[in-house]
Amino acid sequence: MTHVALGITGASGALYAVRTLAALLAHGATVELVVSDYGRRLLRDEIGPEAAIDRLATYVTSRYGVAVEPGRLVVHSNRDLGASLASGSQGCEAMVIVPCSMKTLAGIAHGLSRSLIERAADVMLKEKRRLVLVPRETPMSLPELRNMVLCAEAGAMILPAMPAFYQQPKTIDDLAAFIAGKILNGLGFDQQLFPAWKGQ
Ligand SMILES: Cc1cc2nc3c(=O)[nH]c(=O)nc-3n(C[C@H](O)[C@H](O)[C@H](O)COP(=O)(O)O)c2cc1C
Repeated sequence: MTHVALGITGASGALYAVRTLAALLAHGATVELVVSDYGRRLLRDEIGPEAAIDRLATYVTSRYGVAVEPGRLVVHSNRDLGASLASGSQGCEAMVIVPCSMKTLAGIAHGLSRSLIERAADVMLKEKRRLVLVPRETPMSLPELRNMVLCAEAGAMILPAMPAFYQQPKTIDDLAAFIAGKILNGLGFDQQLFPAWKGQ
């Protein structure tokens, strides 16, 4: 079974994270979840108390109809640098950080490993595994742009939270599904979250 690490940090766009979590679980992946302090705040502020970490599995089931069997969603503390995700010997094949704050992006770009999210991302880079970063900030400063280049040069996929409109989205969920679909592709999964472009 595929194990995927999912980091949620304090950038706007908590819905992208929840939609991605639901899609990964629906694909049969086991998700190793790490949420920063500000990621927890954004889940609460942008979605509501029903999306708090200890209620997230129930929320995903009620919103997206995805059953979360025991053991399929493992939550780690972002302060636990001794967690399995901190080592290259652990079994996560891929990692996504969605949304990815400029602070966490900077930490990954410079290999700081200050938190479990940053350390797990560093592990993905050193082990040459898939790492998808979903930054959300606008406009971007020159240091932020340079940090994205550093991460891309190190092997990460930079997948900005930039939903497209060619599929004529009708709802906010359609926009979130587009980004979640792109993330699943970036992690190496097939997905049907948005219709493929068929040409003119
Ligand atoms: C309501 C709110 C919205 C924020 N939105 C963003 C954002 O879109 N992008 C970003 O890079 N930082 C954003 N921040 C700032 C980050 O949360 C802050 O830099 C934090 O230290 C990030 O820490 P983390 O990466 O450990 O989650 C926001 C903060 C708050 C309180």
